[in-house]
Amino acid sequence: MKKVLKAEKLCASYGKGNAQVDVLKDFEFNMDNGAFEALMGPSGSGKSTFLHIASRLLTPSSGKVFVGDAEITSMGDSDSAKFRRSNIGVVFQSFNLVESLNVEENIVLPVRLAHGAVDKARLEKLINILGLEGKEKKKPGELSGGECQRVAIGRAVYASPKIIFADEPTGNLDTISSQGICKLLSRLNKDESCAILLVTHDPVVASYANKVHFLKNGVIVDSIETDHDASKISGHYLKTFNRSGF
Ligand SMILES: Nc1ncnc2c1ncn2[C@@H]1O[C@H](COP(=O)(O)OP(=O)(O)OP(=O)(O)O)[C@@H](O)[C@H]1O
Ligand SMILES: [Mg+2]
Repeated sequence: MKKVLKAEKLCASYGKGNAQVDVLKDFEFNMDNGAFEALMGPSGSGKSTFLHIASRLLTPSSGKVFVGDAEITSMGDSDSAKFRRSNIGVVFQSFNLVESLNVEENIVLPVRLAHGAVDKARLEKLINILGLEGKEKKKPGELSGGECQRVAIGRAVYASPKIIFADEPTGNLDTISSQGICKLLSRLNKDESCAILLVTHDPVVASYANKVHFLKNGVIVDSIETDHDASKISGHYLKTFNRSGF
């Protein structure tokens, strides 16, 4: 099976000299095309750092990341911006929407910024999948948190990327909205053949993925098939980290 994501000997640190914190040390990771996987681990274990490097928002001190066949770590800024626009989608805990733009305008913002033409049929289909029919002209301030996250997911998936990186996408949501977002991600994974790497502290959220990797001090210490069973995941978490606190 072809790999959608490969990380080789990735090292990342913050700060310099005595203040240097090494977050990832020879970190290795890969995912098959179309996979839906989750990363879990205690706060500070390096989950967001990896997602930022893999989505080319942060440069590692050494090592390589490939998205499909393309090595994104060696790309210049303009090549990587172009590559990201059509191959990588990102979703964060905070929705990062533009308050002055409506739902449709937020979803197509990356295309507009790249001076591309909007595909009306694609936008309409996506609004339908996102469950945002009738809300097309609403601004973020007029939407619920769950709806805002749907818009952010729409913006991430509009260009049919190979992979979406989602860093705690349900972190700001109540249980019901959180489940809605998880179901939406599962549907996009299947219907749009888009791989998803999800970071979460919530075993219920992780159970929507097929596989979960446990990260400790910048190293993957265990990986399991989820069997879509949240209690299996929390049991493994407890065994791996000797605690249930996420
Ligand atoms: N900009 C930064 N400057 C300095 N240190 C940082 C910076 N960003 C992260 N760190 C440190 O790097 C380590 C890993 O952080 P990271 O954000 O990757 O963790 P995480 O696993 O995503 O944690 P959480 O579950 O709390 O989001 C932590 O010790 C953190 O304090
Ligand atoms: Mg984080």
